[in-house]
Amino acid sequence: MTIVIIGVIYSSVSRIRKQQNEKIKLLSNLSNEIINAQEIERKRLSRDLHDEVGQILTALSLSLELMKKNSNGNGMAEGLDECKSLVKQTITEVRRVTQDLRPIMLDDFGLKTAIIDHAKRFERRTDIEINCENVNDITSIHPDAQTALYRIFIESLNNAYKHANSHFIKVTLEESEAKIKLAIHDDGIGFDSGLDKNYTKAGKGGLGILGMQERIKMFKGDFHIVSSSEGTSIMVELPKTGD
Ligand SMILES: Nc1ncnc2c1ncn2[C@@H]1O[C@H](COP(=O)(O)OP(=O)(O)OP(=O)(O)O)[C@@H](O)[C@H]1O
Ligand SMILES: [Mg+2]
Repeated sequence: MTIVIIGVIYSSVSRIRKQQNEKIKLLSNLSNEIINAQEIERKRLSRDLHDEVGQILTALSLSLELMKKNSNGNGMAEGLDECKSLVKQTITEVRRVTQDLRPIMLDDFGLKTAIIDHAKRFERRTDIEINCENVNDITSIHPDAQTALYRIFIESLNNAYKHANSHFIKVTLEESEAKIKLAIHDDGIGFDSGLDKNYTKAGKGGLGILGMQERIKMFKGDFHIVSSSEGTSIMVELPKTGD
């Protein structure tokens, strides 16, 4: 009798476990779909902004220049200069948004150049210094894996800026025989990342760290955070065959 009860309990537990695993797999597939759809949409938006809005603004700027030339000192020149300056500011802003949505550098020149380019722009926007000395060219990497690493780099920088009160960030990107390794170290105040290996507690409602993890899972890579009052390190390893 006891054996029968144990058998029934065992098979119920196995069934529940199987159902749970199926649900986890379904959720993971769904999150992959969302991440992929988001990248496609970002690419489309970025292209539209660049091609449509960017070109119209450039044409507008040229028209204003022509109007100024033909105004023959009738008092309009100052107003036209102001309009041109506003159009110029808008062009810069559209460029920034376009870059953030889908960096052309990443598609055209690869991860190393995109990281260095973003780091420079980030330094100009903040008072954080970024060391990219050990950011190397990566040869064998699937474009989607490249995008995943790029997004993780961006989110790590944003977190260092938003939460860490950091002044210095070091980025390394290296390729070994079997792996590609990306690490971002900040010198900020740190946070309690070790409580829960799934980083759900660190997440506290934020999606950044969870998003990083999901992206790495898609390529069967490893993701680690080490954080203390000395700073935070985000470390990612992707197997070269994981594409
Ligand atoms: N580099 C860091 N230094 C200090 N604390 C950090 C750092 N990165 C993350 N954190 C802490 O972990 C929490 C979760 O980060 P996460 O990126 O998941 O969310 P978020 O940045 O708050 O929101 P979101 O990324 O969705 O805009 C942050 O709110 C912050 O408390
Ligand atoms: Mg974040």
